[in-house]
This record gives sequence, C-alpha cells and structure tokens, in this order.
Amino acid sequence: MCGIVGYVGRRDAIPVLLEGLRSLEYRGYDSAGLAVIYRNRLQVTKTAGRVQDLRAKVNDRIKANIGIGHTRWATHGEPNDINAHPHTDTAARIAVVHNGIIENAEQLRAGLAKRGVTLVSDTDTEALAHLIAAEFAHDEQASLEDAVRRALRHVEGTYGLLVLDLQHPGELVVARNGSPIVLGIGQSEMFVASDVAALVRYTKQVVYLDDAEVATVHATDYHTAGLDDSVRHTGGSSKEPTTVEAEAGDYELGAYEDFMRKEIHEQPEALRRALRGRLDDRFATAKLGGIDLDARQLRGIRQVKFLGCGSAYYAGQMGAVLVEELARIPSDAEPASEFRYRNPVVDPDTLYVAVSQSGETLDTLMAVQELRRKGGQVIGTVNVVGSAIGRECGHGVFLHAGPEIAVASTKALTNMEATFAMLALLLGRVRDMSTATGQRIVAGLRAMPDHLEAILAAEEQIAETARRFAGADHMFFIGRVRGWPVAREGAQKLKEISYVHAEAYQASELKHGPLALINQSMPSVIIVPADELLTKNISTIEQIKARGGPVIAVTNADLPADLADAVITVPRGEPELDPLLFNVPLQLFAYHTAAKLGRDIDKPRNLAKSVTVE
Ligand code: AGP
Repeated sequence: MCGIVGYVGRRDAIPVLLEGLRSLEYRGYDSAGLAVIYRNRLQVTKTAGRVQDLRAKVNDRIKANIGIGHTRWATHGEPNDINAHPHTDTAARIAVVHNGIIENAEQLRAGLAKRGVTLVSDTDTEALAHLIAAEFAHDEQASLEDAVRRALRHVEGTYGLLVLDLQHPGELVVARNGSPIVLGIGQSEMFVASDVAALVRYTKQVVYLDDAEVATVHATDYHTAGLDDSVRHTGGSSKEPTTVEAEAGDYELGAYEDFMRKEIHEQPEALRRALRGRLDDRFATAKLGGIDLDARQLRGIRQVKFLGCGSAYYAGQMGAVLVEELARIPSDAEPASEFRYRNPVVDPDTLYVAVSQSGETLDTLMAVQELRRKGGQVIGTVNVVGSAIGRECGHGVFLHAGPEIAVASTKALTNMEATFAMLALLLGRVRDMSTATGQRIVAGLRAMPDHLEAILAAEEQIAETARRFAGADHMFFIGRVRGWPVAREGAQKLKEISYVHAEAYQASELKHGPLALINQSMPSVIIVPADELLTKNISTIEQIKARGGPVIAVTNADLPADLADAVITVPRGEPELDPLLFNVPLQLFAYHTAAKLGRDIDKPRNLAKSVTVE
C-alpha cells in the first residue's frame, strides 16, 4: 500500500529517494513526500498526487546525504498536501514516515492536544512525530533509537516506521510491527524501504526486519534489536544480510506498455522456474524441499485447507480441487480474512496452506498466526522471499514467479496453481496414486509452459473477442467443478481492472435464480473443458442461448459450430491441470477489455498491490 524509502550515504539523497518512490508507485498511492537535512534544518516537501508532482515541487538547490520519503494510500485523513508524509513535530526536529494504522490514534492525538501540542494534519502518523519529540523532552541524552522505542510503547496498531532526527543527522531509525521494512546494505551507504523494489538497483544485500524489531542505520553500519530489549545493542550488525534474487530490470517495463501485460507474457518462463528441479521422473512425484514432512507425516494428513485472499483464495480453491482429485484427501479453501475472525476449530491432522503473492497480506498473516497459536500445521506458498507470511510459516514453497508489480495478480497465480498441482501429486503418490498417473501428471506439468506460449501467441484473437464485448455493463462467468474457481478468478480479474460488473456462478446453480438475469445485454463467459462434464456444459450454453444471452466459450473441446457467439480456444493438456491453462486467456480477456475502456490497468482505482491493513 504505502511506500517507504530512506537513504544515508555519500550520494545526493533526493534523486535516490525520488527514484525509490517511483519504483514503489505500483503499490497504489495518492500523495507523496520527502524530508532531508539541509543546512541544519529539516526540509520537507510533500504533495497530493504522483511522484512526478513531488519531483516538480522539490527545490533543485537542496543537496543532502540523508533523507526519508513516502508514497501514501490514505487511511486517516483525505489525500492532500498536509496529510501527506513525512510528518514532523512542532519544532521540526523529528520527521517520520509510516505505513500501517495506529489504532489508538484518536486517544494519542487527544492526549497530545491536552498537553498543548497543535496537530496540523488529520493523520494517525503525526502523533508519532510528537511522541518521539516528547521523549527527548524527558531525556535530552536519549539515543534516537531509545526515543523511538519508548514512544512506541504508547502505540497500538501496525507500523513500518522510518524516523529522521535533526539532532542525529547521520542516522535513520526504523521499526516494524506488521508492515514490511527492509534495509539495503551498500558500500558506505545504506538504504531503507518497504519493498526491495526501491533498493535493488543499488544493492542486492538486504536485511528484513521482523515484527517487533528496530534498527539504527548509519552510512557505514547498522544494527538491529528487539523493540522490547531493555538494553540497546551497540555497534555491529546483529542480523546478517541475505542476497535478493531480483534484478533492477524486473521492475522496469522494457518494451511493454504496462506491467500487467508484461507479467502475463512472463508466465511460461515463470512457470518453468517454479517447476525446475521439483519434478521427479524416477518416482513420478514432486520434490518440494520446503515442506519439512516425511512420507509418514504426509500420509497422516487427513485434510488440506487453503487460506488466502482475493485471487490467492481462488488459487487455493483450484488447489483444493487438485488435492481432492489427485490425492483423494478432503480439501477446501477459505478466505483468510473470514477464517481469522470466526474462531476456527484447528485440527492437528489438517495441513493448512497459506497462499500469498506478496507474503504481506495482513488477513492471511493473521490467519497464520492464529493457526500457529492453536497448534495447526501450516505451510506458506508465497512469492516474495523474506516476506512476513513466509517467515511466520517457517516452511513452505516459494512460487519463483519473479517480482509482480501490476495490482492484478497473473504470473504469481499461475505459479500458485502449479505449486498446488505438485503438492497434490506429492500427497497422492504417498497414498494410492499409481506410478502411471504420477507420470501422466509430471508430463502434463512439464508441457504447461509450452501450452501457455500457445495461448499467448493467440492473444490478438482473444483481444478481438474482448473488444467485441467491452460495451457490456455486466457479465457472468460460469463454470463447474474444475471450472468454477477459474470462473471466479476470471470475474475477479475483469472487475478489478475494467470496472465491468462481473459475477461468477456455478453452472448448476444458474437455474436456481440467476437465469432470471440472462438477456441480450448479459454476456456469459463459460468455461468448457473437454472432460467428463462436457455435455453438461453444452446444455448450460443452450439454456443461456435459449434466453437470448450471448455466450463466450473458453474451451479445449470441439464444440458444435455456432453453439457459442465467440470461442476462445485453449490447448488440450491433462484434464486435472486444465484450470492452470484456462485461467490465462481470461487474464488476456480482462486486460483487453480494460484497455478498450481506457483504464489505468496497472493501478486500478481504489486498489493497492498488497493489503497490509485491516
Ligand atoms: C489479485 O488480482 C488481487 N489484486 C488481489 O485479490 C490479491 O490476490 C489479494 O489481495 C491477495 O494478495 P496476496 O497474494 O499478495 O496475498
């Protein structure tokens, strides 16, 4: 959601901050700002709007070697210049940028007002700057880290916090509770960010802060410590850096006009990465090293439950279908956002699978924490290495999709499905799945990247169909069994980037109500795999046609001529793996509908890439 950037070193800090903020724009934002120390004063520049507006507002004459920056996605207070971060205390000594939500902000603001402090913004964040300043009023000799630590004792809520202090002009202090913070370790320079995207062009050596950790960062050294540690660590680096895989180019558009189309086209390669080294031909199974369970423990699993939000939940639903079909273990998926609030019964023989591209989605993280508290077995399937969910789960499977920038998840989702297919294969092969079936699935998975290439090669035909129906105000997405989560995800993609109202329905449920909505202005996208349910799906199409509804069939079957108004063809693979393939033309369908309607595809309205708030 919001983005944080910090720099201390020998470079001109402002271009580094602006460039870092630009690379975080994809997370969704409505205002931006930065603060540097220049001529013994804090210089703060902020504005509603985009990073380019901030760039235009910054005074070119200011040169600084330390600074902090922020892109904001409004939660408390409307998006305007005053509410933009950084926020300062009254004396303009302390500047803070903050991601997350301070839950007791009203109480803190009232307490400060009572003590005569004038708050100038409507934000929860401003209180933090005043609280830190107040700690120095009590103890002038306090270190910045200790002042931050003490101030945070009054705070309830989530934060990724970055603090700059005029009186400590060579250091930055960061703290984390629920919102990501990563340090970038350079040669006599250090970076801080909420996402490696902002620092990967400068360094690949990073330190991820954990929740309840604080760090002090100077140009040549850093140290980390627990927020509750009574004694502050002095000197040295308590946490060793790790190397990030991503390249700066992964965050650039290259020849593409937007990230969503770039990432759709990266899928064959991303999928090859996810499969590499994980398919075992000899035993016709999968090798998922991150799942720390032996054959006996795998056999002991009596149920598999997938937990994720939005598209990650739909991917989990596809995973549940795969696990039931291939491993014959009861399986289902639930939105993590519901699970965490409903006091779930946690069964020790259930394998819980947390699903998340970003690894930072708060609802999913909370569900994992609840599971762990209740002794549940949970593994993570996440894309971003070092992210909170991956670390909280302790073990799991990385998706290896590479950085995903567009708000609409595409390549990560495809790799989630492939990962669940491998998990289902692994669970099946320690049970009753025959070697022959195992070999069939292994071969089917190996063929998937080529099939994806064939779908992408037919992009223009899919685009034509999308443009033909782009005038519709509403659409149905219809599927059954394997096709049902595909339909849900197809509807989700269409609504989030095109703003066309799309509703998914099980084909079998149409006659129980929604058929009443079918008419000439309600096109239906129908998932029609060439499987044992083909005749059922053909009769669904006929029911819709009989009521005048236009039909777009997405199929790998040979349908009767003129049955559908438009056909999107999908290559034929192993039937159990169909969802993986059927999903991709629906991404292109949504993309080209949104393009035809002139939408800002990478930054859909009201949405952000990762939802780290309640
Ligand atoms: C996907 O297109 C959506 N933007 C959204 O539903 C997303 O999948 C969801 O917020 C979960 O994100 P995560 O995978 O990063 O946890």
